[in-house]
Amino acid sequence: MGWWLWWVVLVVSMIKDVGARGEDVTYDGRSLIIDGQRKILFSGSIHYPRSTPEMWPSLIAKAKEGGLDVIQTYVFWNLHEPKPGQYDFSGRNDLVKFIKEIQAQGLYVCLRIGPFIESEWTYGGFPFWLHDVPGIVYRSDNEPFKIVNLMKSESLYASQGGPIILSQIENEYQNVEAAFHAKGPPYVLWAAKMAVELQTGVPWVMCKQTDAPDPVINACNGLKCGETFGGPNSPTKPSLWTENWTSQYQVYGGEPYIRSAEDIAFHVTLFVAKNGSYYHGGTNFGRTASAYVITSYYDQAPLDEYGLIRQPKWGHLKELHAAIKSCSTILLVGVQSSFSLGQLQQAYVFEEKRGGCVAFLVNNDRKNTATVVFRNATFELLPQSISILPDCKKIIFNTAKVNVKDNEIIKRSSQLFDDIERWEAYKDVIPNFWDTSLKSDTLMEHMNTTKDKSDHLWYTLSFRPNTSCAKPLLHVESLAHAASAFVNSKYSGSAHGSHDDRGPFTMEVPIVLNDGMNNISVLSTMVGLPDSGAFLERRYIDAYSLGLFGENSNIYMREYLDKVRWSKVGSAKDQPLTWFKIEFDAPAGTDTVVLNLSTMGKGEAWVNGQSIGRYWVSFLTYKGHPSQTMYHVPRAFLKPSGNLLVILEESGGDPLRISLDTISRTGLQDHVSNYEHFKDRI
Ligand SMILES: *[C@@H]1O[C@H](CO)[C@@H](O)[C@H](O)[C@H]1NC(C)=O
Ligand SMILES: *[C@@H]1O[C@H](CO)[C@@H](O)[C@H](O)[C@H]1NC(C)=O
Ligand SMILES: *[C@@H]1O[C@H](CO)[C@@H](O)[C@H](O)[C@H]1NC(C)=O
Ligand SMILES: *[C@@H]1O[C@H](CO)[C@@H](O)[C@H](O)[C@H]1NC(C)=O
Ligand SMILES: *[C@@H]1O[C@H](CO)[C@@H](O)[C@H](O)[C@H]1NC(C)=O
Ligand SMILES: *[C@@H]1O[C@H](CO)[C@@H](O)[C@H](O)[C@H]1NC(C)=O
Ligand SMILES: *[C@@H]1O[C@H](CO)[C@@H](O)[C@H](O)[C@H]1NC(C)=O
Repeated sequence: MGWWLWWVVLVVSMIKDVGARGEDVTYDGRSLIIDGQRKILFSGSIHYPRSTPEMWPSLIAKAKEGGLDVIQTYVFWNLHEPKPGQYDFSGRNDLVKFIKEIQAQGLYVCLRIGPFIESEWTYGGFPFWLHDVPGIVYRSDNEPFKIVNLMKSESLYASQGGPIILSQIENEYQNVEAAFHAKGPPYVLWAAKMAVELQTGVPWVMCKQTDAPDPVINACNGLKCGETFGGPNSPTKPSLWTENWTSQYQVYGGEPYIRSAEDIAFHVTLFVAKNGSYYHGGTNFGRTASAYVITSYYDQAPLDEYGLIRQPKWGHLKELHAAIKSCSTILLVGVQSSFSLGQLQQAYVFEEKRGGCVAFLVNNDRKNTATVVFRNATFELLPQSISILPDCKKIIFNTAKVNVKDNEIIKRSSQLFDDIERWEAYKDVIPNFWDTSLKSDTLMEHMNTTKDKSDHLWYTLSFRPNTSCAKPLLHVESLAHAASAFVNSKYSGSAHGSHDDRGPFTMEVPIVLNDGMNNISVLSTMVGLPDSGAFLERRYIDAYSLGLFGENSNIYMREYLDKVRWSKVGSAKDQPLTWFKIEFDAPAGTDTVVLNLSTMGKGEAWVNGQSIGRYWVSFLTYKGHPSQTMYHVPRAFLKPSGNLLVILEESGGDPLRISLDTISRTGLQDHVSNYEHFKDRI
């Protein structure tokens, strides 16, 4: 998340054993201290697996130019340890390369190790195999331990001369702690003790954990920490805001959450004034998004999903960061006082002995400009704003006054895929009771059966109706996310749940039955793993088939294409459970590439064997449009020609009206050179 940290620390470091170039990192009641110097640090999130290594240098450069000092990221355990003991730190999972790139650009890192990270990431970052290993979280030879050792072996902690100045254990555990009853508090103590004993030489934080045990710092996550944060749980700890939500994640069926640059600036400034951001979201490639979360992640952040600068957010925050940095010395040593300037107006003043003075003038009146007198001078304060006066005399920044122009996405080129001859299709198999290998007397739980190897699980039954029912209905209740019904291999209907309805959804579809035996197949689908179980309740159903045939045969990869028979698209258009494939050349240039899937329904798309994520265009918001139609195809996935696009369409769609577009944002010329500069280094 785009957030920034504000640390005013005084205590002198106690860390020993530092390398020759190592920096001491400590804190006290006012801030973080690096090598004996108090720092105000602005931090933003960039999650390494949500972009490609090719994009990292440019993302980090833009964050730095926007005034950030620290890049924070979660560590995604289930990417790094897909099977017990089997590690993966390659490609988008190359955490060490990501941290070294940040170091090369002169920024610090805050590493949020977890192990539970939530982060709208499937299963909150836990590998699914933990499901079958009770109690592993309490063991010490798990993820945090491994990651800390990896970081140490690469000398990445500040105490060793590296860029990591802070690490986070757990994430918002207090939100769920009550559910663990008596086991909750001991776990918090265990996690904190385990973390501290790992001796990283840099402080640890826990966010939204008001009782974080010493010396772990409790930090605030939220939209308005300046208003809501109760402060550190000890006078020796600084105020940290670990997640300043510059936006909010979006779910299928949900509208984007737009937070204005003015609102962000107001709350950031308030937090600083009282003592004291998703910066880049990215893309949930593959099946990594959690329940119902769309593929585009925090696109409304200062850097959009593609890493393009979003104005005025980026520019306004850059000016704010500069304004606060210009008076950081006084903020770090000055004595703070605050007093009222009117009914809804407040002053926060920092004064140092030599006469330096910084003031923040807050107007909480949402509608009206306020005229106030401060130090014998008159000031006009815009509605719902904070003015910064680095000398207590002149306003250099007002949070509600945006000087930066808006910018917008523009389409540069578009490649149509409307030639039916270029497409091929494969209709996936609808299994029935008789050819399903997995049989059970009891109803099997979806996730327990798929082990997250696929989103899909078939439930099948075969039966002979024994009543002369005129209008048979198939009724299914499911705690999964979507279901489609097929009767005697013909599609009968589908239904789905939603992110906000926690309970089961019901599918009730009229069906046509033969007099004799009938084959009923229900395809149950998860759209990302939630934090709760899932089951299908239907007593007849007792044979299972895991995944789709095409999926199990990996037919989205070139080397396995011939596992199935592809044919002309013809009648496959608008049919459920159909795979489509086409070859295409990459658009020339370096502009961002996106796939417009607006005419498709629900499914997943792969480019050259790499999943660009799930799509769900047919799930409309209350305003009647899809939550996401444009899907990012990173340049790194493409070669100049002969790229393979494979689409699995689950409900029916028209591939002939898909297009591949290149996009840019207006007014970004200045930053192109920046990207070119860093691109050469990877
Ligand atoms: C700000 O710092 C003062 C001491 O300088 C402290 O009393 C106060 O609680 C802090 N406020 C917050 C919100 O951290
Ligand atoms: C954090 O960002 C949100 C918007 O994303 C803004 O409303 C809030 O004021 C910011 N707070 C801080 C301390 O940055
Ligand atoms: C404000 O004016 C009063 C009276 O003229 C004076 O005594 C005081 O020192 C002034 N305060 C400042 C901060 O200039
Ligand atoms: C999951 O499967 C195991 C056996 O493989 C069983 O013991 C357990 O009860 C199942 N859990 C659920 C929620 O169905
Ligand atoms: C239909 O058949 C099932 C299974 O044989 C039986 O349990 C049920 O009572 C029958 N229903 C009717 C209405 O005959
Ligand atoms: C049901 O499935 C069996 C086995 O595949 C098949 O022989 C039979 O024809 C199917 N019944 C119907 C009505 O489609
Ligand atoms: C996506 O394609 C559809 C169908 O051609 C078109 O109507 C729509 O405007 C396109 N969306 C964007 C953002 O270009």
